[in-house]
Amino acid sequence: MSGASVRLSNGRDMPCLGLGTWRGDATLLHDAVCAAVKAGYRHIDTASLYFNEGIVGAALQQCMREGVVKREELFITSKLMPTDMHAPKVQPAVRKSVDALGCGPIDLYLIHWPFRFVEAPSAFPVPVAERLGYTHEAVMAVWRELEAAVDAGLLVSLGVSNFSRKKLGLLLADARLPPVVNQLELHPLLVQAEVCAWHREHGVVVTGYCPLGSPSRPPTFRHADDPEVDSLSSPIVRGIAAQHGKSPAQVLLKWAVQRGTVPLPKSTTPARIEENYGGVDPTWSLSGEDMELVSGLDTGHRYNRGAHFAREGEAWADLWDGDVL
Ligand code: A2P
Repeated sequence: MSGASVRLSNGRDMPCLGLGTWRGDATLLHDAVCAAVKAGYRHIDTASLYFNEGIVGAALQQCMREGVVKREELFITSKLMPTDMHAPKVQPAVRKSVDALGCGPIDLYLIHWPFRFVEAPSAFPVPVAERLGYTHEAVMAVWRELEAAVDAGLLVSLGVSNFSRKKLGLLLADARLPPVVNQLELHPLLVQAEVCAWHREHGVVVTGYCPLGSPSRPPTFRHADDPEVDSLSSPIVRGIAAQHGKSPAQVLLKWAVQRGTVPLPKSTTPARIEENYGGVDPTWSLSGEDMELVSGLDTGHRYNRGAHFAREGEAWADLWDGDVL
């Protein structure tokens, strides 16, 4: 695996920066993925719920055909959507992802959310009334199927996303193939220091979505108490960027990598894709003081609260089991 990477608990390596693709404009995404691979990215994050696995896969196949990259150099992540969180639906869902990407076994497959929907849900967007609550038993039934998909050679590594420590602890105790990754929202306003330390102790790598504070996030990620000054516009981040001759985005990504997490910045703008890759260039680093200053911006501010998944009478906070509220 070329470039800087982190070792997962199963001995596999994951490049320490990945391209996020959620809400990537479909007309721009193909070229964005190609631009990323040309810039040096080897890690691409998608999900069946993003409905873009086909575009991402076609772009990666093109890069391979053109000789820009070899399959073994790429690390592709996708995710099982909550409507497929039923044991009989898992193998067909995995095959659908594998076929859509068209790049052979998927390097990392995550359970996207710890909850699920009824077995025969309405069409997307599925009404929230059809959401079922979390149970560890339901997660385990799905996990056994995912383990079988690894045994069958369709998937390489398994992980989760949006799991609290409580939920992940139960899964770690019962899994035959332990989850190697938990993908969480991470940025300077939501540092999750204790949560990340817990994952380190348990051998689970934390990958971070919204590493730039998701400036163009959708309404479901916007709240009346969102601060006006976000991670990218923070004078502290800007000051550190100026000192190093880097951009604020590059500081945020370097900070994420230096603290041992794997950021997944989304961009469909080639110049920003390249800029972001330069953020993790090993030829520069943040000082201990810089790291502390950026971490000091933490207010525990979550953008993705999951409130849009809460049924009537449910508190969104319950989803996170007390992990940073
Ligand atoms: P775009 O895709 O139009 O380039 P996050 O990964 O935190 O969710 O942030 C993604 C958002 O940040 C997207 O709107 C993306 O816009 C924007 N973005 C990506 N890279 C940069 C950058 N280097 N500077 C400013 N904004 C960026």
